Amino acid sequence: MAASSELLFYINGKKIVEKNADPEEVLLSYLRRKVGLTGTKSACGGGGCGACTVMVSRYDHNQETVIHYTVTACLQPLVTLHGAAVVTVEGIGSTKTKLHPVQERIAKAHGSQCGFCTPGMVMSMYTLLRNKPQPNMEDIREALAGNLCRCTGYRPIIDGFKTFCDSQSSGCCQNGTGGGKCCRENGHDDSSESDISEELFLHDNFLPLDPTQDLIFPPELMIRAKQGSGEVLCFRGERVTLLAPSDLLQLLELKFQHPEAPLILGNTTIGPKLLVKGQISPLLIYAGRVSELSRVEWSKDGLTIGAGNSLSRLKGEMQKAVQRTEEEQNMGYKALLQALQCLAGKQIRNMATVGGNIMSANPKYDLCSVLAALDSTLKLCSKDGTRTVPLDDKVFPAFGKTILRPDEVLLSLHVPFSKPGEYVAAFRQAQRRELAFSIVNAGMKVTLQRDSNTIQSLRIFYGGVGPTLVTPALTCQRFVGWSWGEDLLSEACSSLTEEVRVSASIPGGKHEYRKTLVLSFFYKFYMYVTEEMRKRGVSDAGLPAEYLSALTPFKNEVPQGTQSFQLVSHSQPSTDPVGRPSMHCSGVEQATGEAKYYDDLPPVHGELFVHMVTSSRAHARIINIDSSQALQMPGVVTFISATDVPGSNQRLWFNTVEEIFAEKEVLCVGQIIGALVAESRERARRAAARIQVTYEDLQPVILTIQDAIKHDSYFEPKRKIERGDVDTALEMAEHILEDEIYMGGQEHFYMETQGLIAVPRGESDEMDLYVGTQHAAFTQELVSQALGISSNKITCHVKRLGGGFGGKIMKIAALSAVTAVAAHKTGKAVRCCLDRGDDMLITSGRHPFLGQYKVGYNSDGTIVAADITYYSNGGCTLDESAFIMDKALLHMDNAYRIPHLRGRGMVCRTHLPSYTAFRGFGGPQGLMVIESVLHEVAVRSGLSPKKVREVNMYQGDLCYTHHMQAFCPTDMLRCWDQCLQRSGYESRLQDVQLFNSQNRWKKRGIAVLPQKFGVGFSKGFFNQGAALVNIYKDGSVLVFHGGTEMGQGIHTKALQVASRVLKVPMSSIFIKETCTGNVPNASPSAASFGTDAVGMAVKDACEKLMRRLKPVMEKSPKNSWKQWVNEAYFEKISLSATGFFMGPPTYVDWEKGEGNAYYYFTFGACCSEVEIDCLTGDHKNIRTDIVMDVGKSINPALDIGQVEGGFVQGLGLYTIEELHFSPDGTLLTRGASQYKIPALCDVPTELNVHLLANAQNPHAIYMSKGIGEPPLFFGSTLFFAIKSAIAAARSDGGLSTVFPLSSPATAARIRMACEDQFTHMASTSTEKASSPWSIDV
Ligand SMILES: Cc1cc2nc3c(=O)[nH]c(=O)nc-3n(C[C@H](O)[C@H](O)[C@H](O)COP(=O)(O)OP(=O)(O)OC[C@H]3O[C@@H](n4cnc5c(N)ncnc54)[C@H](O)[C@@H]3O)c2cc1C
Ligand code: FES
Ligand code: FES
Repeated sequence: MAASSELLFYINGKKIVEKNADPEEVLLSYLRRKVGLTGTKSACGGGGCGACTVMVSRYDHNQETVIHYTVTACLQPLVTLHGAAVVTVEGIGSTKTKLHPVQERIAKAHGSQCGFCTPGMVMSMYTLLRNKPQPNMEDIREALAGNLCRCTGYRPIIDGFKTFCDSQSSGCCQNGTGGGKCCRENGHDDSSESDISEELFLHDNFLPLDPTQDLIFPPELMIRAKQGSGEVLCFRGERVTLLAPSDLLQLLELKFQHPEAPLILGNTTIGPKLLVKGQISPLLIYAGRVSELSRVEWSKDGLTIGAGNSLSRLKGEMQKAVQRTEEEQNMGYKALLQALQCLAGKQIRNMATVGGNIMSANPKYDLCSVLAALDSTLKLCSKDGTRTVPLDDKVFPAFGKTILRPDEVLLSLHVPFSKPGEYVAAFRQAQRRELAFSIVNAGMKVTLQRDSNTIQSLRIFYGGVGPTLVTPALTCQRFVGWSWGEDLLSEACSSLTEEVRVSASIPGGKHEYRKTLVLSFFYKFYMYVTEEMRKRGVSDAGLPAEYLSALTPFKNEVPQGTQSFQLVSHSQPSTDPVGRPSMHCSGVEQATGEAKYYDDLPPVHGELFVHMVTSSRAHARIINIDSSQALQMPGVVTFISATDVPGSNQRLWFNTVEEIFAEKEVLCVGQIIGALVAESRERARRAAARIQVTYEDLQPVILTIQDAIKHDSYFEPKRKIERGDVDTALEMAEHILEDEIYMGGQEHFYMETQGLIAVPRGESDEMDLYVGTQHAAFTQELVSQALGISSNKITCHVKRLGGGFGGKIMKIAALSAVTAVAAHKTGKAVRCCLDRGDDMLITSGRHPFLGQYKVGYNSDGTIVAADITYYSNGGCTLDESAFIMDKALLHMDNAYRIPHLRGRGMVCRTHLPSYTAFRGFGGPQGLMVIESVLHEVAVRSGLSPKKVREVNMYQGDLCYTHHMQAFCPTDMLRCWDQCLQRSGYESRLQDVQLFNSQNRWKKRGIAVLPQKFGVGFSKGFFNQGAALVNIYKDGSVLVFHGGTEMGQGIHTKALQVASRVLKVPMSSIFIKETCTGNVPNASPSAASFGTDAVGMAVKDACEKLMRRLKPVMEKSPKNSWKQWVNEAYFEKISLSATGFFMGPPTYVDWEKGEGNAYYYFTFGACCSEVEIDCLTGDHKNIRTDIVMDVGKSINPALDIGQVEGGFVQGLGLYTIEELHFSPDGTLLTRGASQYKIPALCDVPTELNVHLLANAQNPHAIYMSKGIGEPPLFFGSTLFFAIKSAIAAARSDGGLSTVFPLSSPATAARIRMACEDQFTHMASTSTEKASSPWSIDV
């Protein structure tokens, strides 16, 4: 074998020569840990989120040019970068030198909230501009489709980037085509409201894009590339060696010598396997340098493309071919393009190769089904020669297996032109339209005899219905000679039903849905061919007009819309920033990658790493923990468990106890049993896998709400709230409705996973924690209890969080305790950084809920009585579940006055990881149930849901909620009216009805909802805020407060408040961090109460300082701020003040079921329209209008950001985000590949947000209102719009419009609810699962 080689490449223009590059190392960890470039973030580790996007440039021999493309650094093996130049976010601009326009614009357009996704977004856009300095909107959409953001809702990111588009000068959104309307066509005109603005940032002072400033491709690399090296490179690591031949002969020789060594190209299949399954091969052969694999040849037969070409290159070639060739020739290419369009995101398509996609032999990959239908062939090559084989099901004998001999490689793929008489189509349906593996994909081709409708041949291939590519060979054979027509359709469907069997235990589940897609896709193909035949003049019989829309797949478009808010009054001084749309105070640092998150902090000398060891059983006794094997592994320092906790192993939370380490018994899969401490995170992870735990299983194992009801397994307290005489009113009601709705849980999926660094100070037991927590005081308290050290020695520092959403309140405290115990035991700094899978497994998320209701209503839609029982799945410990249930009950009235209302709340005790706080905190579940009630009453009484909502809405100046809290609904009603008007609801409802009458397989729905949401903690003592403000002699001001910055902009708002009171510019005021040493005992940043508490406290502290400065100011009124401060110093006036806010005494007396639970209510209304594809279950969010009452906004840009971001998170909750648990209680969805949060393609094409003008709120800081949580619930408008659309489809099929639909309304649920002949054929022909793949918990 060749000697070890040097790795030579460039990072940000700097040459790097690595002598001992490890083949296991990926670019991301190298950048972050070895080079110290922490701007590139790690969020999923599997290529599924784009946070780690960087640009790679290479000289391409075949194209004879330098190419620039994005990659996900988490999947890019370092050693494959030999000869490449890497550019990271730090390489394009900085605050110290000059910002790059991309960095500037995303920040100024408010496109960065928590900032964790921002560097990745910046690099995707930067690379696009490198390749195309004047992109169009489609280019931007495509460039960003592989980047996820959990905070912003994407719209502001697009707004910032679209300023690079050519037509931006016209200010037009360019979205006039397709389903979306142009921004110029919005249904309202605010020009009459002179104090309403739609300008959240100024467009006219941007830095110009100057491509001459970009880093050039290093000449040295260019020369080396042109010379070529000719030698095999060899990189040896501790466990893996990688050989990189430079030409085909070397490759084949190596494959001959080492047939067992897998080939690696883009690493997008091999990399995630390593990550998830820990599968490694001691020897790898990297074929990325073999130029013979990257050839592209066009001949008269079609395209021959080298297996080493990227999917982006394949897509580019297809696009060119479609433009250059006749329709008859390029039909197949169009179908292939269709498959490539939604395949992964741009970065993955840049890395992934054609050969890798095929040879992975994974049926959920999209290409094989369509390539097989197209009669493609594979050229295989070995030392013995080449052979050509047809690409069909026979190439794949089993999952992950091909017919290639071990010494063979795939050299190229040939895709022929289409021929006359051929009709081809490709189909896929995924959980999310982009950046998601298909559930089922298909490629179909029929060849008809010349100028007739007689079938000459039929090729059908499916992926996602079995372990390999499936072809219904008998069906295809049987219909040769048949005429293309109705008879064929019905016979073929029966035949497919018989032949394509989908096992009930198929990984990924949904076997009936998959079977339905098999038939639906064929039906679509049938319609497509029929229509094409008509177009080609082969047949007269086209499709009925109402079927045609079924043939057009939904187009992914760029979200656009207007965001409007009331300007501050003319009399407000221009220096006063309150009420103005100020940029997030760290926006620029976030966009340059300079902003530091906990894992960006440089290593502390001698630092160790901790990896959690978790239970693999849902309910069991721990018999033994054997760490002996793990402790013998290199680099392992120690294993810790309950016995190592010097203080208390119990986390106490309102008298409920939870163990930090499970001691005797485990209560769920994922519970922390111990932790492995080692010298590196990789070693810790590997060693943790060697800890052997012996269990004795215990009974019962309760996983679902239904199980808990059966076993009477509940936590205390069981709540009840009641108003009026429900039973009598039910008896008197004209109609009774009894039903239920189930709502699944939700994963926080903050982009930054949980973690911290615990640093023992080596003196007096002091310990500092640099931690991503929303509740620093609780983390401090728990660590202090675990270590048995008083709180004054434990200091928590929180710089910022990469998103929190409620998930970083409770669990992070336990993780901190574990890490602190490790630091205490070893005396070393210890870092904990959960990888995405562990984060999802251990920390859990939003509670699943079941709402069962009995409702009495009259024929006019008035609800006279409702009796609702809420069951939540609380998991194995109480955590915050009881408070979350309280909030659900306290929101069960939403905007409606239901005179007789009873709610019961039962938190189920199950053997799942304990559910916890999540934005909305039970509100979204409580509201969902009552809105379902309203919706169902409307459906059953034949009234419009809008009318039923209006009939029941609170009216008047003074109303009382069901918990007897007084409030005035006027602003809620104003939001409602304005939302109806701005959305043009009435006329669009008619449009929807018209559309539905004209389309059989596509249906639309529109829904409008009001909202009343309580702000503040119902546990009154939490409603407090504190701050510390220091003024220094140079006039600069340092503010500390108890809130944590997690993207919501709390620091920016605090600066605005301080600036107003102190009358100094925001630029002179700084917030360094949240620190328990400066502001003690702070409440969590939660309950939409952060700004209320912090703002008031900062105001209080600043006012104190101003009172102290007043005499000095009055003495020399003309002096400057700095002079006053100096003067005060010399007069011995304290320039440091604390501020405190004692919030309202909120409470609920649960005995009486009443009390002022909230400080005040935030109101709003939302209208959404969707379109569904009844045959696949796909849906498209067409338009959403939100009117939100945030009082007098302190910062409209941040508030609108919260509204849009919350709404999009809610859209995920109610329509796409689905967690799966195995029947034994193991979370199956543990990563970005399995769990889908909304991507750019999910945002409504038109998203309009208006902040209610002339709104006031006497209760909170400067008349503003809390806004973090309420908008999330508006995502449910899409659920109800979908439900209406499904009802329209059912109605066409003569089915009842009363039907169950659980949340989220996923593609599978939509499709199966649109019952038709295909769903019936599928469900009658599929076996029932003896043990389903996953269960609804
Ligand atoms: C986040 C993410 C999203 C994705 N989404 C989709 C999607 O929506 N649709 C879809 O179809 N795919 C999707 N993929 C899969 C992706 O398309 C494949 O991983 C990729 O095509 C594999 O190519 P590669 O070059 O990275 O292969 P590698 O990972 O390098 O190799 C994969 C396998 O192929 C073998 N191999 C590679 N080249 C050859 C060759 N020339 N001869 C013989 N064997 C070879 C390797 O030995 C290995 O076994 C996604 C992947 C990721 C990470
Ligand atoms: S961290 Fe690399 S794509 Fe998510
Ligand atoms: S700003 Fe995008 S993830 Fe937070």
